[in-house]
Order: sequence, then structure tokens, then C-alpha cells
Amino acid sequence: MPPDPGFELKPTSTPMPAADRVARMADLGFGRVFTEHMVTIRYRAPDGWGRGLLSPYAPILLDPAASVLHYGQAIFEGFKAYRQPDGGIATFRPAANGQRFNNSAARLAMPALPIERFVEAADLLIRQERDWVPPNVGESLYLRPLMIATEAALGVRPAKEYLFLLFGSPSGSYFTHGVKPLTVWLSKEYSRAAPGGTGEAKCAGNYAASLIAQQQALDAGCQQVVWLDSVHKRFVEEMGGMNLFFVYKDGATSRIVTPKLTGTLLPGITRDSLLTIAEDLGYTSGEGMISIEDWARDVENGTLSEVFACGTAAVITPVGEVRFNGGGWLVNDGQTGPVAQHLRDALLAVQHGTTPDAHHFMHRVL
Ligand code: PLP
Ligand code: COI
Repeated sequence: MPPDPGFELKPTSTPMPAADRVARMADLGFGRVFTEHMVTIRYRAPDGWGRGLLSPYAPILLDPAASVLHYGQAIFEGFKAYRQPDGGIATFRPAANGQRFNNSAARLAMPALPIERFVEAADLLIRQERDWVPPNVGESLYLRPLMIATEAALGVRPAKEYLFLLFGSPSGSYFTHGVKPLTVWLSKEYSRAAPGGTGEAKCAGNYAASLIAQQQALDAGCQQVVWLDSVHKRFVEEMGGMNLFFVYKDGATSRIVTPKLTGTLLPGITRDSLLTIAEDLGYTSGEGMISIEDWARDVENGTLSEVFACGTAAVITPVGEVRFNGGGWLVNDGQTGPVAQHLRDALLAVQHGTTPDAHHFMHRVL
């Protein structure tokens, strides 16, 4: 490989023996196994981004006064690299994640990283870690890019120094129970995001603020929190780490509807892709405002046939039951529905290269 002027390559001199790697990849789950390298790029005002570095995966050193530890300038992304039928590797819409990363950065007064560098950093890591991309459908190398403020300064203002970091984690199913329908918890007590806040940014603080409700969900025997809009406490927004789709009967076919992007929910890339893929498959698709009263009523009258969650980590996972303090209901009798299954298979087929990529979603790396 010719040297890359944008990145210095300093891979490990002691690569992991293949047998150890295979053993670590035996029971993947999500986010428990990390590969051998990472990519870093440092930013310093007024010079901008420096040369990147690919180096062994290792803990990072931070000054105790680094502003991320105090004022929380921290954003992240998540996308995946998939094994292709010819043994090659491709990522799904990495430039869309690069764009959202920069949108999140702008909201947190952090510097933008050129999208080409974001994508190139991932390509570089994937080329280095090619053996860590698992072979099976539903498995992938999950890529986690992030940016934190590293300047040692206690004044409350945007930092002048940042670290971009990217590492990989071979992954299978996000949920320990596999792709079985989820039981979800409607949080009426807490809000995830408010108008004018950071709801549409993928920033660490949004997740920190969500964890108390996620714990309540777990305590109530649920796997995910469903967030409602914080003004009316009625309209369904999204879940802890995934967007939602509602499937309605529409004559001979089905219509899939996802909560409208009002500025308080994360514009998911899976969500966006499914709005397109669903139309290819003969469904109609759109955005709407769906209240919890609508949800309960339409399940009851039979017009709402399925609900499913979608996201990079979750792919498509059906919702089988809704619970809240004092009540709840089943969706599709707690079963996986045909539309969720059809869309999941179609999305995975694009991602694993077993169907034509009509919308050029895939970015070939190797
Ligand atoms: N909503 C939240 C809060 C998320 O964390 C995620 C995951 O990234 C999503 C939705 C789904 O987004 P995407 O499909 O881009 O992974
Ligand atoms: C993803 O799907 O990439 C996410 O970031 C969701 C969750 C793991 C936070």
C-alpha cells in the first residue's frame, strides 16, 4: 500500500494470532470485542486538523482539566462494514454518517472534519482490520468514530483542541435475546430532548440523560425506552438507540410511517434508507406525528399491524409489547410481523451485497 499523506501508519509489531482472533469472534453480541488498531486525528485552533495516525488500540491519555470531562463536548457515530459475497468488504452510507457527525459537531460548537477524511479514516482502519470483519449475514464490523474536547481549560466556552478517534468492534445482534420482538417502556416521567436542545445531535450527553429511564425500562422487564415529545408528552419520537416505524394496512399493501424529524429526534440513516427501500418493495412510506393514543387505538382497531425499531446496531427489530406505569398493550400479538421481516431481509441483502444496490448505498473498501 503506498503511504497515505493524510495518515501515518504505525500498526502493531505483534499482531494477534489468528486462533486468538477467531476465539474472540466466536460469540459476538454487540460492543464487547475491540480490534487491534485505532485511528486518531488531533485538532488545534487555529491550525486545524493535523495528520492522522493509525496505531495499536490502546487507552488514551487525558488531562484532568480536559473540557470533555467537565462540559461534555463529545459526539459519536456508528456505522458498519459488511463482508461481501466475493470476500470483499463494503460500508453502508459512511458519508451520511460523516455528514451527521459534522451536524452534531456544529451543534456542540466543535470543528467539522472533512467528510472525505472521515470516510478515509474508516477505510484505512478496515483495510488494516480486514480479518476482523465477520463472515455471516447479520454480523459486521461496527465502526465507532467519536470526537472529544481535549483542551485543558476550565472556562465555559468551546474548546480549542479536540481528538477524533475511530475504532472497530466486530458485532452480531445488539440484543442479547437476538431478533425476538422487544418489550418497550414508555417513559412518561423523563424527556430525552426539548425544542432547541441537542436531540438531533449524536452527542454523549443525550445518552447520559437517557440512562435513568433506560434503567427503569430494564427494571420493568423492557429492553428499550420509547421517548415522547417533551412539550405535549404525547407524540412518539424514538427509542434509546433506534428510530421507530409504524406499519398500517393500506388496501392490498402496507404503509410504513416514522415519526417526523421535528429537531428533537436523531435523523437515523437506517430510517432514511428504509423510507426508500420500502417504496422499492411496493410499500408506501412517509413521516407523521403519531401519539400514544393513536398507537393504542390503532392496535385495538386492527389498522396498525406492526411496529418495529431500526438503527445501525439494531438493524430492524420488531416491537411486540408496550408497557408504562399502569398499563400496556401487545403489538401484533407480540410476534414478528411480515413487513418487518421483509424489510429486514431486504436491508441486510443490500448491506451484504446479495441484491443490487439500486441507490448506491454501499461504499466498497476492499
Ligand atoms: N436514534 C438514536 C437515539 C440512536 O442512537 C440511533 C443510533 O445511531 C438511531 C436513532 C438510529 O440511527 P442510525 O440508523 O443512523 O443508526
Ligand atoms: C448505533 O446504532 O450505531 C447506535 O449508536 C445505537 C446505540 C448503540 C447507541
